[in-house]
Amino acid sequence: MKKYIVIGNPIEHSLSPLLHNFWLKKYGINAIYEKQLVEKNDIEKIISDMRASKIEGINVTVPFKKAVIPFLDQLSDTAKETQSVNTIFKKQNKLVGDNTDVYGFSEAIKLTNFNLTNKKVLILGAGGVVPSIVLALKSMETSEITLSNRTKKKADDLKKNFPFLKVVSWGEIIKSDLIINATSIGIKKNEEIKLDHSKLDGQLFYDVIYNPPKTKFLENAKKSGKKTENGKNMFVYQAIKAFEIWNSITPEINKEVLDLIQ
Ligand code: ATR
Repeated sequence: MKKYIVIGNPIEHSLSPLLHNFWLKKYGINAIYEKQLVEKNDIEKIISDMRASKIEGINVTVPFKKAVIPFLDQLSDTAKETQSVNTIFKKQNKLVGDNTDVYGFSEAIKLTNFNLTNKKVLILGAGGVVPSIVLALKSMETSEITLSNRTKKKADDLKKNFPFLKVVSWGEIIKSDLIINATSIGIKKNEEIKLDHSKLDGQLFYDVIYNPPKTKFLENAKKSGKKTENGKNMFVYQAIKAFEIWNSITPEINKEVLDLIQ
């Protein structure tokens, strides 16, 4: 039986196995998808297991999306531009790193029906997922993308790869149309971003977090009558793309699938 895995640390929370195993079964593919807690030192061995065909494909999550790159033979354009790999597949015996988070975020934004043309975006955070969000936004004809991160240096470092970014200090609020929480604040229930929410002026509030489904960030926005969206669709669509890359089947998304990760 073929084996797929998702690696990360922590990994317990990952809902990827639920989705992928559902689709593997649905499409009659004789394979299993498991989660594996790894340390940085384990990465080389795991990737060599994939080279030896003991593993068919690997999803990579926090904090290893960059750390896997030195062990791969090729990168897709999106993986290269973001320096972030979340999906590894084999092509003509070469291990290729791809990034389906960019696709996931683009699809999620499309589904909100929020038109981003000439709009201003504020991103809170500068962690692993942000390069993928920035690359996706770049192709949406936004007028300005601003980063605000507690550790300003990380935002400045991202600007080296994406010179069009504007960087402001943490706590400095700028008027925006779309405000994205890409920090990890809110994963723990009732944890709140220490910013003055009344100054967070926007129309759509987007949280990358999908579990819990409504963070304080989204709750506060909703109270002020704003449109809100969590990271669930981004998660589902990055998984769809990874499944498609591995199996050449685009899995169907329906209520049954969405209920799985509720
Ligand atoms: P990493 O930073 O290792 O890539 P991540 O989970 O991808 O990890 O990103 C966590 C993000 O949440 C970072 O932007 C982090 O800010 P720092 O770069 O200053 O660490 C942000 N974050 C986490 N806890 C925070 C807090 N209490 N206040 C503000 N930002 C926080």
